[in-house]
Amino acid sequence: MSTLTQDELKALVGRAALQYIEPGQIVGVGTGSTVNKFIDALASVKDRIRGAVSSSEASTARLRALGIEVWDANEVERLSVYVDGADEIDPRGCMIKGGGAALTREKIVAALADRFVCIADESKWVETLGRFPLPVEVIPMAAQQIARRFAALGGQARLRLKDGAPWVTDNGQHILDVSGLRITEPLAFESMVNDWPGVVTVGVFAHQKANVCLLGTAQGVRTVEF
Ligand code: 5RP
Repeated sequence: MSTLTQDELKALVGRAALQYIEPGQIVGVGTGSTVNKFIDALASVKDRIRGAVSSSEASTARLRALGIEVWDANEVERLSVYVDGADEIDPRGCMIKGGGAALTREKIVAALADRFVCIADESKWVETLGRFPLPVEVIPMAAQQIARRFAALGGQARLRLKDGAPWVTDNGQHILDVSGLRITEPLAFESMVNDWPGVVTVGVFAHQKANVCLLGTAQGVRTVEF
């Protein structure tokens, strides 16, 4: 058993990700509680970087509060590195993401980057994706027909709620959380769901998979390259 708490494991991998940051870079920054630890660590080298491209309003606010300049994704052609967490990651580096509802902007920023560094505690490691309900950002008028398509695959889609009303993403759309799936072919699955009308983004990251995972374990940070 780990003597470190999950929060401490997140802080460990958040700090470990600094090794991928080179001087003068603009850094791609994800979203979530693990990334918050990375942002806190990034503040300690903020004078050596040019700034960050952020994947959510929440990360933008945290970056700015720590004095890190935030660039619009349109101002940047390439990023050398994107650092983000995951809800699940498999032995190929494919992930489920979107537990924090930021999946669309996360995929956009990840697509700008040469290298995706996933930071995660060991509870996120799975053999097959699907135990974590799959987040899918959808145009609201398409939610029910998309839910029926998932039902035909054996999944149960639930509209994500906040205070009894549909959760509204940074992009003004809704989220379906789909349980009961077993995603054995992540690339094909991602492409298929992307093709359904009304799907903004599916939370399978197989086309934008991780290149490296820094996994927080009882024995310390394990680096897995894909
Ligand atoms: C947000 C995400 C996060 O990376 C994912 O939910 C993991 O979050 P946490 O680090 O809080 O466990 O995809 O949309």
